Amino acid sequence: MSSINSIAIIGSGTMGSGIAQVCAQAGYHVFLYDINDSALNKAKVGIEKNLDTAVEKGKMTQNEKLESIKNILFTSKFEDLKADLCLEAILEKLEVKQDLMQRLAAQNSKDCILASNTSSIPITQIARGIPHPERVVGIHFFNPAHLMKLVEIIAGVETSDTVMDTAESLVLQLKKTPVKVKDAPGFIVNRVARHYYVEALKLLEEDVATLENIDALMESMGFRMGPFKLMDLIGIDTNFSVTSSLYEQFFYDPKFRPSRIQKQKVDAGHWGKKSGKGFYAS
Ligand SMILES: NC(=O)c1ccc[n+]([C@@H]2O[C@H](COP(=O)([O-])OP(=O)(O)OC[C@H]3O[C@@H](n4cnc5c(N)ncnc54)[C@H](O)[C@@H]3O)[C@@H](O)[C@H]2O)c1
Repeated sequence: MSSINSIAIIGSGTMGSGIAQVCAQAGYHVFLYDINDSALNKAKVGIEKNLDTAVEKGKMTQNEKLESIKNILFTSKFEDLKADLCLEAILEKLEVKQDLMQRLAAQNSKDCILASNTSSIPITQIARGIPHPERVVGIHFFNPAHLMKLVEIIAGVETSDTVMDTAESLVLQLKKTPVKVKDAPGFIVNRVARHYYVEALKLLEEDVATLENIDALMESMGFRMGPFKLMDLIGIDTNFSVTSSLYEQFFYDPKFRPSRIQKQKVDAGHWGKKSGKGFYAS
């Protein structure tokens, strides 16, 4: 497997934009693609803002900022996505991810690593039917991707050890902390953390406390963000998709059942920070 010089990131939303930023800062040639032009523009503005903050805080020079920006090609042309590694950060839907992986496989060499940032879908399912499934791997960043250190690296049933090692080296180059995990719905963090959201939503449904009080209590216990603030940051639509996916993957175990309150927020387009309104106004 060749070493990684170029990285294509598909989906420039909450996660894709942050991942593109860290890859560009580490000197990789990055292609950042989205089907939605306004998402691409928003990503560009967000990345520049994050880099400006890093300059202000003395974490990088103005020159390093400009070099990082230069490393990213923002594109809406799928044909541009020819790279050593392609990483998808699109909708949390199996069929959509598989279709994308097929199209990426068709225009890249068999050595191109196909990575997914999925939060909940087993890598084994995403890899099924993809030519050379041994190069399909999970590289799961956490939100906000430009700040959070942990990255889960997930092996599907067919993923080769070489691809796992290459993914691990890449994450180290990004100055992050890779942890190799086996394939299971939600892997480690999202499976455990799911109950942070699910139980908080149940409390709200049962009218046990207001969401503000639930957040305040959890923060006073030492959690950095209460569950409702965190859902607004993650994206209520994405968080709902992840819970729905885990519920399905665990054969409808009631402990993962999604909340009607959350579903209604999704239906209303109140998706949190990304839409300007969620559990809180932002
Ligand atoms: N938000 C989080 O906290 C978080 C954390 C870790 C992992 N993830 C995972 O990362 C992935 C992306 O989540 P997100 O929160 O960034 O979502 P998002 O909604 O913020 O962004 C998704 C982007 O993908 C684009 N898109 C959708 N379908 C596409 C396609 N077929 N081709 C190209 N672009 C497409 C959309 O236009 C959008 O800009 C999901 O799999 C999610 O589970 C999310």
